[in-house]
Amino acid sequence: MTDTKTLFTAHTLGELELRNRLVLAPMTRTSAQEDGLVHFDMVDYYRDFARGDFSLLVTEGLYTDEAFSQGYANQPGLATQAQQDSWRPVVEAVHQQGGRLIAQLMHAGAQTQHNRFKDEVVAPSESRASGEMLSFYGGSGPFPLAREISESEIHEAIAGFATSARLAREAGFDGVELHGANGYLIHQFISERFNQRDDAWGGDATARLAFPLAVIRSVREAVGDDFPLGMRLSQGTVTEPDLRWAGGPDAARARFSHLIEAGLDFLHLTGGDVAAPAFPEAANADERSLSLTTLADQSRKALESDITLITNGGVDSPEKAVAALEHADLVAIGRSALANHDWPKRVKRDTCLTPFDFAMLSPLATLANEEDWRIANDKPANCEGRC
Ligand SMILES: Cc1cc2nc3c(=O)[nH]c(=O)nc-3n(C[C@H](O)[C@H](O)[C@H](O)COP(=O)(O)O)c2cc1C
Repeated sequence: MTDTKTLFTAHTLGELELRNRLVLAPMTRTSAQEDGLVHFDMVDYYRDFARGDFSLLVTEGLYTDEAFSQGYANQPGLATQAQQDSWRPVVEAVHQQGGRLIAQLMHAGAQTQHNRFKDEVVAPSESRASGEMLSFYGGSGPFPLAREISESEIHEAIAGFATSARLAREAGFDGVELHGANGYLIHQFISERFNQRDDAWGGDATARLAFPLAVIRSVREAVGDDFPLGMRLSQGTVTEPDLRWAGGPDAARARFSHLIEAGLDFLHLTGGDVAAPAFPEAANADERSLSLTTLADQSRKALESDITLITNGGVDSPEKAVAALEHADLVAIGRSALANHDWPKRVKRDTCLTPFDFAMLSPLATLANEEDWRIANDKPANCEGRC
């Protein structure tokens, strides 16, 4: 039996005292009301993970303005006072269970599948996301062609992140995570494929950080120094998970340093496998090559401060969670947590974990479909010692 003690040790993230190292990964569920307000089912849904002993929950990606940020139908927003108010019961329910809740702020950019505010889709440069829209979020066919976002729209997008972060703080959230991963707008600005601009927002790898840095700075100004702020980063996108950042470890380290220095308290790195080498193709014959270490290890080398590192990807057993903590401070769990809302409790009691089944998210990734799947398969989300 694996010794899981390390999973249940405390950790301090910025100002936050966390009772263990287990984090719920952000997962879009397209279950909000049409106007982006929280649906009451979502209160129970998030409460359940805190009751199941995840010490920190990251919400699904929330859109940040009433312009171009929305990506999905029935995606929750955090752009207005009404949306802010609708999150308060979720925050309260999670806190009542002793959990902490971070709002993930997201602008979909070229990966927009549905936006009730705008017909057009924008990206750093004119571009189209590869592959097909995600059917489990209600899309079908190729992604739309995104046009180049204008200077004033860039400022509007940055202001949206800042407003949304302020709304998060006022609503009682314990921090915000900027979604810089999986091919959404922040990631698009970093990417040489989506960002071919030759103005102040584009250029070489360092120049392409201008937008994420501006977002971090203006969010920091909006929420103050004592409010936990992080960024999620990945190499791959939702439709191209195996993409790799150009430039290997040196470029990655420079990127981490610039972002952290702009005012982050945590970095959340996600990929297919927490233990995978970051740049296997770039590795030379030297087995100790830095390219073969994980992205989390590489970011650790770039950190002069003691910011918190969260790692995520493919953790579906206590063994993998314990191993993930060799690379990072906290481990975030996605699909396996969906199958087991009480993942930490089950692991603590050494009871079995229900394997994730993609049918839980079919035909749509909604809470209602998850519930139908549970009833049909007699798999409770929170087993209360019965399994
Ligand atoms: C249904 C679903 C929705 C997701 N939505 C988001 C999201 O809103 N924001 C995000 O950063 N990642 C999102 N992800 C990615 C997960 O956070 C996580 O990175 C991924 O599932 C890999 O971790 P896992 O192997 O533990 O599942 C989603 C994943 C799933 C399965």
